Amino acid sequence: MKEDNFKLDPEFYDLQVNWDKRLDKEKDFFIDIFKKYNIENMLDMGCGTGHHAQFFSNYIRKIVAADPSEEMIDFAREKVVKSPGVTLIKAGFEDLDKIPYGPFDLITVLGNTLPILETRKNVKQALKKMKKKLAKNGIAIVQFLNFDSIVMEKNRFYTPKVVEKNGKIYIFIKHFEYGKIKTRVDFVITEIYKNKVEGFFINSSYLCTLKPGLFVKMARNAGFKRIELLGLDGKKAFSKKEDISLYALMSG
Ligand SMILES: C[S@@+](CC[C@H](N)C(=O)[O-])C[C@H]1O[C@@H](n2cnc3c(N)ncnc32)[C@H](O)[C@@H]1O
Repeated sequence: MKEDNFKLDPEFYDLQVNWDKRLDKEKDFFIDIFKKYNIENMLDMGCGTGHHAQFFSNYIRKIVAADPSEEMIDFAREKVVKSPGVTLIKAGFEDLDKIPYGPFDLITVLGNTLPILETRKNVKQALKKMKKKLAKNGIAIVQFLNFDSIVMEKNRFYTPKVVEKNGKIYIFIKHFEYGKIKTRVDFVITEIYKNKVEGFFINSSYLCTLKPGLFVKMARNAGFKRIELLGLDGKKAFSKKEDISLYALMSG
């Protein structure tokens, strides 16, 4: 379980996500969960730049937001998280049993963080550690890509994103190379200033090819009794041949 498999500058990570749009889309799903499960405290594991934690603090009093990347935590602390209800800590799944917080009513693992652990063994261990940190009636929510080979093949290139910042243009291209056990993801960033390429960054990492069926088996083995899979919008049941990502809701 090492964090260097995902080495993307927080500045770049944030530039390629339209946070207002993303949170607006996800808002109702989470608010319904908070109400339905009466959530009072939570952990956001792999919190990245901290936008979810800051957003959740509008509804939940006590939030721990954890990430093993010091750069992510520093960025979140300096630029994103303003609420005193959010405790930012440098910790990954591997440290979960050592952190002096929890048990939690809710644990979220968002934005494809679980497959970033790269191997099945690491994913299994992470699920077990999560289960141990959940309160008796707690719920865990994991959001990850649909690794169905046909869906992956169809979406192997994401639509390029073009973002302008401080007079520079950034082009983000994401590419997936599907493999049965591991899937490679390439992140290519081109930085353009006054029609000249000033920077060109390639970041490749390997994801555990976490097919939904495999995930459900692993979650059961980790001790979760109820596992519900929802599609991209978090409302409808997950469709293996259509949704490009899913939410797994796990409890029991
Ligand atoms: C794709 S980002 C997702 C960030 C955020 N949750 C989101 O939805 O935008 C994956 C995050 O997982 C973190 N990460 C890497 N290895 C990890 C580990 N072993 N345990 C927990 N998080 C890890 C990375 O540092 C990164 O911030």
